[in-house]
Amino acid sequence: MYKGNPNITICDHPLLKHKITLLRMKETGTNEFRKLVEEIGMLMGYEALRDLELEDVEIETPIEKSIQPMVAGKKPAIVPILRAGLGMVSGLLALMPAAKVGHIGMYRDEVTHEPHEYYCKLPNPIELRRIFVVDPMLATGGSAVDAINQIKKHGGKNITFMCIIAAPEGLKRLSEAHPDVKVFVGNLDRELNENAYICPGLGDAGDRIFGTK
Ligand code: PRP
Ligand code: URA
Repeated sequence: MYKGNPNITICDHPLLKHKITLLRMKETGTNEFRKLVEEIGMLMGYEALRDLELEDVEIETPIEKSIQPMVAGKKPAIVPILRAGLGMVSGLLALMPAAKVGHIGMYRDEVTHEPHEYYCKLPNPIELRRIFVVDPMLATGGSAVDAINQIKKHGGKNITFMCIIAAPEGLKRLSEAHPDVKVFVGNLDRELNENAYICPGLGDAGDRIFGTK
């Protein structure tokens, strides 16, 4: 399903794999968990930004005038899916300090696992920006699909979704609902359990980032 799909990238950098393993460990505490999510956000961002468009600009070095490449276009938008997506924002901002940040609030019903939206604020003009939607976990895919539906309703077009861990079920649902969206996955895990948690996964990402529960 994913092999040969040019819009899906399962990241394979060894440093990323190492950090995701640390993240999974149940003894990893809130402080370290947060730092790891930030670092992983940055490493994945570096990969996802490989196709950024450049334009030639004229500059002057201490030696001479010169034509050199700089990033083109409007400032991108980073859109975390609340809450857990917030943890990836600082890593991406380290790469794109001028980016705008939007927010989409979604929570999964604990019984039905269906997503519910409770907040949406996006930077304008959203239709002219490259948009990076971030959430550490892609489980059933419901939250990501609905968040991207919402962004498209507001006019968003050029969308990249980044998650640290995905379940095959969620990746399939997302790629079928939004085949135009570029997807970057830190690791593709085995399956969902009966509570729609990812196995082996890392537990509840929001609770581990914010120290709740
Ligand atoms: C988690 C996670 C995703 C969602 C993934 O959020 O951060 O947003 O579940 O599950 P899905 O793919 O089945 O929709 P949660 O709903 O627990 O909210 P929280 O981040 O506020 O804890
Ligand atoms: N949300 C999480 O935080 N973890 C899972 O495994 C599934 C959904």
